[in-house]
Amino acid sequence: MNKVLVTGGTGYIGSHTVVKLLSAGMEVLVLDNLSNSSKEVVGRIEKLSGKSLQFFEGDIRDRALLRSIFERHSCNSVIHFAGLKAVGESEEQPLKYFDNNVAGSIVLFEEMIRARIHTLIFSSSATVYGDPGYACYQESTPLSPMNTYGRTKLMVEDILRDLKKANPEMQIALLRYFNPVGAHESGDIGEHPFGVPNNLMPFISQVAVGTREKLMIYGGDYSTPDGTGLRDYIHVEDLGAGHLAALHSLSENNSLITVNLGTGHPYSVLDMVHAFEKASGKKIPYEIIGRRPGDLPEYYADPALAKKVLGWEAKLGIDRMCADTWRWQQQNPQGYS
Ligand code: NAD
Ligand code: WQD
Repeated sequence: MNKVLVTGGTGYIGSHTVVKLLSAGMEVLVLDNLSNSSKEVVGRIEKLSGKSLQFFEGDIRDRALLRSIFERHSCNSVIHFAGLKAVGESEEQPLKYFDNNVAGSIVLFEEMIRARIHTLIFSSSATVYGDPGYACYQESTPLSPMNTYGRTKLMVEDILRDLKKANPEMQIALLRYFNPVGAHESGDIGEHPFGVPNNLMPFISQVAVGTREKLMIYGGDYSTPDGTGLRDYIHVEDLGAGHLAALHSLSENNSLITVNLGTGHPYSVLDMVHAFEKASGKKIPYEIIGRRPGDLPEYYADPALAKKVLGWEAKLGIDRMCADTWRWQQQNPQGYS
C-alpha cells in the first residue's frame, strides 16, 4: 500500500489533500509543527475521510524526529507542504524564511535519501516566475522571483533539480500553484489565517461574516478591464486532486515533472467581490486604495502541460470557490479555535 508522509498536512492545502489521499485508500502520516495550523484539523480530516491518520507534532528541521519516523514507518513517498508563506514577513525576516523553507527542506531531503524514499511532491508557487513582462505563464517562462518568499521556493526547486541529476532514481514533481482559494464542500475544513489575512479571499470572507469592516482593494488604476488586479484563483479541492494525479504520474514515470496548477482563467478583485456577494447574499463594503508594493497587474497559468503530463485540469469555477469558502466561514467564524 502507498504510505505517504505529508509535511504541513494540517495546513490549508495539506488538509484538503490528506482527505483525498485517505479517501483514495492511502496510509497517511502527517508532520506539522502547528506554526500556522491547529491540531483540531486532524479530527476533522478523519471525520471527512472516515479513516485515521498518524499525526506527529514536530518540525521538518528536527532530523532525529524525521529519522525515527522513517525508521519506524515504511513510507514510499513524501508530499512536502510545510513552509512559511507570508510575502511581507519574508522580506522583514529573510533568515527565518531561508531557515524554515530552505534549510528545513534540506534536512527533509537528506533524511528521505537516507531512508531510500525516492518519490517527492514539492509545493512550489507561481511566485517563482516574477515579472516576465507578460501575463500568461508557461513552465518555460523565465524564473525570477521578486521577493524572499519566492526565492526560497526557487532555491528548493533548484536543489531538487540538482538532486534529481545526482539521484536519477528519484521521482519528483514540482507543482507551481497559482492562487488557492475555496474549502471542502462540507464546510468542515478551510483556510483561517492567524491574524489579519494577507490574501484576498480570506479577507473578503471575514468581511462577509462581520469580523472585518471593509475590504481594502489595492489599486483601481491597473490597465485591466475594471482597473483591479487579475489572478488565477484555483479551488483547493482541484489542487488536492492535482497532487493525487502527480503521485499517480510519478509512479509510472521515473522523472522530474514541473507543472503549473491553475485554471487558466483570470478574475479581477472586483469579480471576486461580486461572486462572493452572490454566494453569501452579503454586501462586501470596500474601498479602493493605493497599489500594494510588489503586486503585478495580471498573471495566470497556462495549464496545458498539467493536462498533458498529469491528465489533470481544474474543474471548479468561481461560484463554487466562493460558495465553499462562505460555507466554511459561516460554520467556523473563528476558524478552528
Ligand atoms: P499553510 O500555512 O496553511 O500550511 C503550511 C503548514 O506547514 C502549516 O500547517 C504549518 O504549521 C506547517 N509548517 C510550516 N513550517 C513548518 C516546519 N518547519 N515544520 C513543520 N511544519 C511546518 O499554507 P498552505 O496555504 O497550505 O501552503 C502549503 C504550501 O504551499 C506552502 O509550502 C506554501 O508556500 C505553498 N503555496 C501556497 C500558496 C497559497 O497561496 N496558499 C500558493 C503557492 C504555494
Ligand atoms: C490577490 C489580488 C491583490 C488582499 C500571493 C503570494 C503568492 C501566492 C499566493 C504563495 C491582488 C488583491 C489582496 C487585499 C486586495 N502565495 N488584494 N486586497 O498577491 O496574487 O499572491 O498569494 O505562494 O506568492 O504573493 O494573492 O490574495 O494577496 O492578492 O485588493 O486585502 O487581490 O492586490 O490583486 P497574490 P493575494
